[in-house]
Amino acid sequence: MAEGKTATLTIDGKTWELPILSPTSGPDVIDIRKLYAEAGVFTYDPGFTSTAACDSTITFIDGEKGVLTHRGYPIGELAAQSHFLEVCYLLLYGALPSPRELEDFETIITRHTMLNEQIHYFFRGFRRDSHPMATMVGVVGAISAFYHDSTDVNDPEQREIAAHRLIAKMPTIAAMAYKYALGQPFVYPKNDLSYAANFLHMCFAVPAEPYHVNPVMARAMDRIFMLHADHEQNASTSTVRLASSSGSNPFACIAAGIACLWGPAHGGANQACLEMLREIGTVDRIPEYIARAKDKSDPFRLMGFGHRVYKNFDPRATVMKESADEVLDLLGEHDNETLKVAKELERIALQDDYFIEKKLFPNVDFYSGIILEAMGFPTSMFTPIFAVARTVGWISQWKEQLADPQLKIGRPRQLYLGEDVRDYVPIDKR
Ligand code: ACO
Repeated sequence: MAEGKTATLTIDGKTWELPILSPTSGPDVIDIRKLYAEAGVFTYDPGFTSTAACDSTITFIDGEKGVLTHRGYPIGELAAQSHFLEVCYLLLYGALPSPRELEDFETIITRHTMLNEQIHYFFRGFRRDSHPMATMVGVVGAISAFYHDSTDVNDPEQREIAAHRLIAKMPTIAAMAYKYALGQPFVYPKNDLSYAANFLHMCFAVPAEPYHVNPVMARAMDRIFMLHADHEQNASTSTVRLASSSGSNPFACIAAGIACLWGPAHGGANQACLEMLREIGTVDRIPEYIARAKDKSDPFRLMGFGHRVYKNFDPRATVMKESADEVLDLLGEHDNETLKVAKELERIALQDDYFIEKKLFPNVDFYSGIILEAMGFPTSMFTPIFAVARTVGWISQWKEQLADPQLKIGRPRQLYLGEDVRDYVPIDKR
């Protein structure tokens, strides 16, 4: 990795040579691992804006150019030609599968879709009006109490089984969280359906009548899963890696990732974005909201706009926009008011100096909510669907981390700005 390049750090006239590591793509990285031991200083980077926390071979993003690749394959090509389970294989194992490998992988995932029946009783402890993300954090953490034969993180075979279980069972858990909130019976997985179609079936079928999954809907669902499958070292993935660095079991680590994803600055943005589009309501009210987004004294932000890494179009948003058109066409909702507001908002924001200067472009969440709503999902299910899709990314990064012989517990340091040592004052003297 290192090519002999170094960076020189000078503090009070003393200098240190820091190795520079060159990646396959992306900016060079200054290796500061020995900095504290040798120079006695920390680096300061809250929010990790300039810090590579690990090395990885899974996903690459060039935020300036709007590029996203998984194992080298551009997301646009995958979205157009691949499907979710093939992308799962690619993320997990590093190469596109042969027909035989794909068939075997699909069979393995399909055979793990059911949950231990006892988990049904666990669900019943939640209030019916619980947010499905609250249910998912709890249930996914709790499944470590059910699958003891795949919690030994030092055993590669158990790691493999845990990865398959999580990818296979997450749609079942999300669909159960949805059904539970509706007060409808849980629908068991149907293993002759594709991954996406099975999820739609578990969400929308009822025992009283047959339910046929529309192939266009299944395709749109599959695309949403594909576009959210992995995204490098984002907040929830880094949370999974940090949780796992102490040797925690995979189910607990993924529950931590789900908790992080829930926030409106991350996976919760698709729910927040659709709620915002609904609140705007009609195109004539857009200027008022643009003005609010630009007003520093107003905490309002245009949800679905901006990204920590993309300073150009989010390539996933382009595909998502096409999918939104396709699904709304199928449903005969060409005049969908929310889509009209979204398109006009995008048009106006992209011409506005504030958004141009700050490089704020629509992100993946800007259009996904419109599709999901058209498919019949309530906003509360948007982030759980994101969690279903991102599970493969989390688990691929988790596997990669555990296979690294240099794995260390994640332990950031701090810039302490509190009181210096002082004497305790007894209560009667305060
Ligand atoms: N609307 C209005 N202004 C914005 C927005 C927005 N959506 N996003 C950023 N800005 C402004 C900030 O006010 C800031 O302005 P300043 O420099 O004058 O202070 C500047 O742009 C930079 O913003 P930061 O918050 O520093 O950028 P950061 O990289 O930390 O945040 C984030 C990225 C959290 C995604 C932010 O753009 C945001 O809050 N967007 C809305 C929420 C959203 O859509 N999140 C989904 C992200 S994608 C995903 O998780 C799948």
